[in-house]
Amino acid sequence: MKKHPTKEDILEAIENQPKISKITVLSCLLAVNSKYHYIPKIAVEEIANYTGKTTNDVWGVASFYTNFRFTPPGKATLDVCWGPSCHLQGSQDLLKNVHDLLGIDHEGETADGKITLRYSTCLGACSQGPVFAIDHKLYGKANIKKIEKEISEI
Ligand code: FES
Repeated sequence: MKKHPTKEDILEAIENQPKISKITVLSCLLAVNSKYHYIPKIAVEEIANYTGKTTNDVWGVASFYTNFRFTPPGKATLDVCWGPSCHLQGSQDLLKNVHDLLGIDHEGETADGKITLRYSTCLGACSQGPVFAIDHKLYGKANIKKIEKEISEI
């Protein structure tokens, strides 16, 4: 299981932002997200302390952007495309099989925290559909056996 960042880890991420003219709540959130791939609760408190804002102010900014998540991602991310091309090439059936394989029926983390499943509207390889990606590495002409094989190596 991954270690959750400490107060000191968060402060280091905030203070090591690339040189920008003004440190803001958003720049701090981006720095923490870039390092940990999510915004832990402790980061909201640290960013509030660091910028002189309230935790409500920080939550307000963080929750406005749908790209921020507030729970740790899985060890690996599986993107399954359900865009128009992949849809025509069988992605709905594939996705149903992926749900069965992972034991979840929606986007999110598996019970063991190993995999984060995400639906994609296009992974940019439409002619190879259906397409999936593991940690941004693309695989075309997908079928459940191919996904099962790649996942088993995580
Ligand atoms: S629609 Fe699936 S890769 Fe483009």
